[in-house]
Amino acid sequence: MDDLRFMNYEFTMKTHTITLTYREFEHIDELEPGHALLVRKAIEIAGKSYSPYSRFPVGAAVLLDDGRVFSGNNQENLSYPAGTCAERTVLNFVKANFPESKIVALAVTAPASTSFHPVTPCGICRQVITEIESLQADPIRIFLHKINGPTYGFENAGSLLPLAFEEANLGK
Ligand code: THU
Repeated sequence: MDDLRFMNYEFTMKTHTITLTYREFEHIDELEPGHALLVRKAIEIAGKSYSPYSRFPVGAAVLLDDGRVFSGNNQENLSYPAGTCAERTVLNFVKANFPESKIVALAVTAPASTSFHPVTPCGICRQVITEIESLQADPIRIFLHKINGPTYGFENAGSLLPLAFEEANLGK
């Protein structure tokens, strides 16, 4: 019998590569004024986060197509999985109250982060942002900000979730 561990199947495979492009802004002032304001709103609301368990406050702010700005932060719970990320706090509020509005940009920041990169949305939030983007058929620009550091700018949410779980997966 063949030893499957050592069989070489490589000749049957194709290799695909997905690239992720983003801009790096050294300072908030390099952003368009509307996007800079959004980042500032995210920083401000991170200060009101309820995150006693992780001690990792996160702020998120969204810009609507009519210019309105809304913000939210992470809301944790003693039952840890019940907590909600900053992104979904604000996105769910906006979707609930202004279902007809389009979201044109989302800014996120986590002041306590020690990472080299700005904070990046978790997988669940990426799925949520991507669905909103698909529904509205217009891109949501994403700005990930590091306090006293760079801001990464992404042209759309979909690029942050390649091969996303989508309607077609359900056979729709
Ligand atoms: N968190 C966010 O709110 N957004 C992110 O992008 C990453 C993680 C929250 C969830 C939890 O309250 C805390 O940060 C630690 O994971």
